[in-house]
Amino acid sequence: MNNSIEIDVQDLSFYYKNDGLVLNNIALSIYKNSITAIMGPSGCGKTTLLRCLNRIHDLYPGNKYNGSIVFQGRNILENGEDMVELRRKIGMVFQKPTPLPLSIFDNVAYGLKLQGERDKEEISATVEKYLTMASLWDEVKDKLESEARELSTGQQQRLVIARALAVKPMVLLFDEATSALDPSSTSLIEQLIEEIKNRITVVMVTHNVQQAERIADIKRYMENGILVQ
Ligand SMILES: Nc1ncnc2c1ncn2[C@@H]1O[C@H](COP(=O)(O)OP(=O)(O)OP(=O)(O)O)[C@@H](O)[C@H]1O
Ligand SMILES: [Mg+2]
Repeated sequence: MNNSIEIDVQDLSFYYKNDGLVLNNIALSIYKNSITAIMGPSGCGKTTLLRCLNRIHDLYPGNKYNGSIVFQGRNILENGEDMVELRRKIGMVFQKPTPLPLSIFDNVAYGLKLQGERDKEEISATVEKYLTMASLWDEVKDKLESEARELSTGQQQRLVIARALAVKPMVLLFDEATSALDPSSTSLIEQLIEEIKNRITVVMVTHNVQQAERIADIKRYMENGILVQ
C-alpha cells in the first residue's frame, strides 16, 4: 500500500431524481494501490457511492451531486469532464456479469479496437495476456471465437474483468462482483484483485465479511448514506 491518495471524496451528497438524498456528506480517501472495502446493510448506499466515483449515474438524467471527488488533481464532478475517458480510467465490474454480445476474443479486444489498435498480432497478444491475468486463458484458449454468453457465470465474470483490465484503468470498482459466483471463481477473482493492486487501485463493495478480512487493506462501513468508522 502506498500513502498517496488516488481519489479524494469530500462532502459528497447525492440525490436520485425522485427519491431525494441517498448519500449525506461522505468523506473518503482512497489510497493508491490499495484495496478499500465498503460494507454495510442493504440499501445503505454502497452501490450509489461506488457509482459516483466514475459518474456512471450520469447515464440516467436528473440525479444530482454536491461536494467534490478529486481524481488526478481535478474535481470530476465539475462540468466538462470527459466521461468516456473517466470511465476508462475508473472501470467497473458489476454483480451480474455484463459480457458484450460478442465472441470471447472480441470482448477483450473491444476496448483496444476502440482505441484504434489495428495490429492483429498485438491485439491477439493483449487478449491472451489479460485472459491469462484473469485466470481464464486455459479454459477458453480453444474457443476464443465462441459467444461470451455461452460461458458459465463465473467464467463470464472473469472475462468481464479481463475486458476491464485490457484498457489499462487506474482504478477498478467492484460491486459485489463475486456474490453470484461459486467458491472457486470467487477465489480466483480474489487472487486476481490481490495481484492487480500493485498497479491498480481497487474499491470493492462486499457483503462478505470474510472476503474483506482476506483481501482488503482498508474497510469502511456505511449506514443510511453515511460513512461510519
Ligand atoms: N435508481 C434509483 N433511483 C432512486 N433511488 C434509488 C435508485 N437506486 C437506489 N436507490 C435508493 O438508494 C438507496 C441506496 O441504494 P443502494 O443501491 O446504493 O444500496 P446498497 O447499499 O448498494 O444496497 P445492497 O446491499 O442491497 O446492494 C436505497 O434507498 C435505494 O432504494
Ligand atoms: Mg448495492
